[in-house]
Amino acid sequence: MKFLDICLTHQELENSYCKNKIVVIIDVLRASSTINTLLYNKVKYVKPIEKLEECKKLKNHGYIIMAERLGKKVDGFDFGNSPTKINSKEFNGKKVALATSNGTKAILKTKGSKISLIGSFLNLSSIIDYINKENSSVLLLCSGWKGSVNLEDTLCAGGIISELKNFQINSDTVLMAKKLYESSKDNILETMMKSSHAKRLSSYNNIIDIKFCSEKNTQPIIPYLKEEKLILL
Ligand code: MLT
Repeated sequence: MKFLDICLTHQELENSYCKNKIVVIIDVLRASSTINTLLYNKVKYVKPIEKLEECKKLKNHGYIIMAERLGKKVDGFDFGNSPTKINSKEFNGKKVALATSNGTKAILKTKGSKISLIGSFLNLSSIIDYINKENSSVLLLCSGWKGSVNLEDTLCAGGIISELKNFQINSDTVLMAKKLYESSKDNILETMMKSSHAKRLSSYNNIIDIKFCSEKNTQPIIPYLKEEKLILL
């Protein structure tokens, strides 16, 4: 029997939750969307990093270094965590190191999974199709925001849940995420704009990222974690 479960913040994740499961890390605004965009733009790989100091050191090893705190680019780094600022840049074949407030920390917590995938609205159907073809239990790991549940990650998780088949569901949280998506699936952007992080990004005049991250299936690829690097499946 395949089981389907969800964590609404990475802080609630116990390592044992990942064992032998397909884990999908979801950080819609914006780590998952940025990682998907980087790999869609043919970077060699993305190295998720927790600490800023560690990320910065990689500049001397040929990496493009990207870092975000509180939704803003960190001084001294090449880029922040904006997918629209890197979408047209020449990244072909480059190595990228990325440190974000929640998303990269969430990714690094999933070592020990059967496979760790990066999920967003940009590659929603690719993730769904992959999971439905596999015969494994699944954990959807929402990054959240500093230990709090956020709307956009839960909404995206609901979008995945709504199309999965033949799973045993033991958690009302899964049903809640599915219901959230079903009530909003025709106006994802409008719903996302109500989220606290969208309001934070909007206050920095960054509505373009929110719109970009709300668009479904614009980048049909699957990033996964292999030896602490994110590459294309
Ligand atoms: C996060 O890691 O919480 C987000 O990716 C933050 C952001 O990019 O604004």
